[in-house]
Amino acid sequence: MSSKDFISQTLTLAKKGKGKVAPNPMVGCVITKKGKIIGEGWHKRYGKDHAEVNAIKDCQAKFGKNKSKELLKDSCFFVNLEPCSIKNNTPACTDSIIGVQAAKVVCSIKDPNPRINGKGINKLRAAGIKVEVGAASDEAKELNKIFIVNQKFKRPFITIKYAQTLDQMIGYQAKRGIQISNARSKQDVQNIRKEHSSILIGANTLRLDNPRLTSRPESKIKIQPAKIIVGNNFGRLIQKNIFKNFSHIFFVSSEKLIVPEKYSSKITCIQTNKRNGLQKLFKELMLRGYTSILVEGGKSIISSFIKKGYFDELIVYTAPRILGSKGLKAMDNKADKIIDTVTKVHSIENFGEDIKVTYINKKANGI
Ligand SMILES: NC(=O)c1ccc[n+]([C@@H]2O[C@H](COP(=O)([O-])OP(=O)(O)OC[C@H]3O[C@@H](n4cnc5c(N)ncnc54)[C@H](OP(=O)(O)O)[C@@H]3O)[C@@H](O)[C@H]2O)c1
Repeated sequence: MSSKDFISQTLTLAKKGKGKVAPNPMVGCVITKKGKIIGEGWHKRYGKDHAEVNAIKDCQAKFGKNKSKELLKDSCFFVNLEPCSIKNNTPACTDSIIGVQAAKVVCSIKDPNPRINGKGINKLRAAGIKVEVGAASDEAKELNKIFIVNQKFKRPFITIKYAQTLDQMIGYQAKRGIQISNARSKQDVQNIRKEHSSILIGANTLRLDNPRLTSRPESKIKIQPAKIIVGNNFGRLIQKNIFKNFSHIFFVSSEKLIVPEKYSSKITCIQTNKRNGLQKLFKELMLRGYTSILVEGGKSIISSFIKKGYFDELIVYTAPRILGSKGLKAMDNKADKIIDTVTKVHSIENFGEDIKVTYINKKANGI
């Protein structure tokens, strides 16, 4: 096995922590000696041991106390994120690595947490350990893109997603939503919803479409994303489907809302006079551990998020239909121009006759 294989194994191990470690990053670690793996570990659960410590424990369990001590001395640690140099719920990983007298650390990327960001690497080097940074960095950034944005921008990772026709319409003006994309695209949207801890829509979309905003199949999803509604004029709230299969709901509005009494503990109203409500919302979401938002429209919301630069990824499903002059465009002209200049295509997929394009915001994205 080569260094490339070892670093790729750290990514495989890191993924085992998916859904269990947030708001922490997913991290895997492989320890080698003379080209052979002597220990493997990953960060399994938030607040529990980090990958490096688990890999050391794995080595100790496999080889016993004395032999593992001998093996760990002058070993090489492969890890997809810079080892942490701060003590929180667990000891600093740098101390554990220094403690076993490792010779070398190969890590993919620096930790974006401003409290670490290079300090872990410096500490290891100061202890005489050779450190290499940059192996499989693209894959490592992609894996922890939510964590990176959370740390760098102190806001949730934001994905905007919509379905459009060939003439770039997302529905008819001031009318209930229509089915634009096909069943396969819709299934894909369900996968995207599962990747996000909250879903956001505008007040008009709530009023006109009355969506449930759930991950499906609802019976199989243990933790539903939080629901966020932004704007004014929500209509008769009590009749809304968002109260079915209920997760936490955030309303961001200048209106004073009267919410059904029985739901009051699970509803947060962020009242705002100006359009500064989004910043307040981001802060509140981060405090409550909601680290990502899937923005599902409509036009006013999509345009607003794009113009403020509040997006890291944009996902557009295009279906072979034309709505013509009565259609509602996905975004206004100003937002359209911004998209043109700040995004780059990340991937293109086909779902039957629909095409899905994923764009990355070159300016905002931590990747
Ligand atoms: N095809 C798709 O993928 C898709 C997805 C979703 C919705 N849609 C369609 O889109 C249509 C609705 O779009 P829409 O543009 O009419 O309305 P919308 O985006 O759903 O909601 C508009 C509301 O958002 C508020 N808003 C926008 N930016 C804001 C900000 N930065 N802070 C606070 N509030 C903000 C507006 O406030 P103000 O009133 O103060 O301006 C307004 O109350 C519906 O027909 C729906 O079916 C299509």
